[in-house]
Amino acid sequence: VEEDKATDDDKPIETLKDEVERIDYTGAQVWKVSIKNSAQRVINQLASEKLIASWGGNHSSIDILVKPKALENVTAALKTKDISYYVMIEDLQQRINEENPPLDENELELQDRRGHRMTWKQYHRLEDIHGFMDYLAKTYPSIISVKTIGKSYEGRDLKMLRISDGKPSNKAVFIDGGIHAREWISPAVVTYFINQFAENFDVESDDIKNIDWYFLPVVNPDGYEYTHKTDRLWRKNRKYGFGAGSCTGTDLNRNFGYRWGGKGSSTYPCSDIYRGSGPFSEPESKAINDFFKSTAVKFSAYLTYHSYGQYLLYPWGYDNALPPDHKDLETMGKLIAQAIQNTGGSSYQVGSSSGLLYPASGGSDDWAKSQNIKYTYTIELSDTGRYGFVLPATYIEPVARENIAGVRVLARYLGKI
Ligand code: ARG
Ligand code: ZN
Repeated sequence: VEEDKATDDDKPIETLKDEVERIDYTGAQVWKVSIKNSAQRVINQLASEKLIASWGGNHSSIDILVKPKALENVTAALKTKDISYYVMIEDLQQRINEENPPLDENELELQDRRGHRMTWKQYHRLEDIHGFMDYLAKTYPSIISVKTIGKSYEGRDLKMLRISDGKPSNKAVFIDGGIHAREWISPAVVTYFINQFAENFDVESDDIKNIDWYFLPVVNPDGYEYTHKTDRLWRKNRKYGFGAGSCTGTDLNRNFGYRWGGKGSSTYPCSDIYRGSGPFSEPESKAINDFFKSTAVKFSAYLTYHSYGQYLLYPWGYDNALPPDHKDLETMGKLIAQAIQNTGGSSYQVGSSSGLLYPASGGSDDWAKSQNIKYTYTIELSDTGRYGFVLPATYIEPVARENIAGVRVLARYLGKI
């Protein structure tokens, strides 16, 4: 009896809480459902009953998470409407368990010798990502600096890293990741870019050196940590919202202040696409806005990394409209997609986000475009649904490698215009 009692008391409170609260997705499935005639209405109905959750989609199909209890009901609902679907993930928890295995002994030993714990063989906690950024700033002070541009709702740093050789003639590019908590491949890929440019800056091409790089790899640190500790599939930030119902979390990619409050965003705090109480109501999006307001830097490009679907999306997102220079955005997008395909083999579709996907207002891309940043893209990384958000860590390096080829092409092109 004594032995049993001793165990829980010995554990730190943090660990104890995690064990109690971690959400289990055993038996949950992910389906790709084809969109035809009444499918969208049926899907919306099932979603409002919380039987399913949307994982995203386009004009021809939508991926949905089906809760185990709902499998029969959802099957029936789709069958009666003659809507076809395909099971992509049979057991979501199993995929989650296999996604991010611990490193082996050799890897861990290597890690400890380097001065930081970051790798691109595993998805890392925020502490490792921030430690890695601080390490680079300390190791390469002449080209790298780290700045905290604000704090998240729960008080975590919003850490931005700048790489620059200080030439006044340089152009500037802003790259962020991790706006959506569950899209783990995004911070992994953005930190890979940082590592490549930082560790090899001396031997990098002039295309890279002629740009001042600004990286914010984890826009939503509270959500990111929450996906590691409690709910692997959390999307929003962690601010408590009152309104039509009260729930936690605002979709930061519906909270940016250009055409805020329009299509594809929700007024319900419990919705996964809750827009927040007003434009930039969230500390994380506001910090980005404040940074842009306070800096004299004129950015030539803004890249924001998400997953999944393999898309290169340019504005506008709020509605089916195109910016006057959309042909330039299409041209550059095609070049980037071509470079990705040539290097790694994945094919990325290029188009406006409202046109290719669905209208959604309050995105960071639309806002960046409204700030006169010409080459603004949302990049939806791999895959196209086989693993969805739960992309195994073995994919980090291949996905990052093919995407850095895209960034290099952008840099080269910017150097010519
Ligand atoms: N999957 C992204 C989202 O739903 C796409 C964003 C595209 N940009 C936009 N402004 N709609 O947030
Ligand atoms: Zn996203």
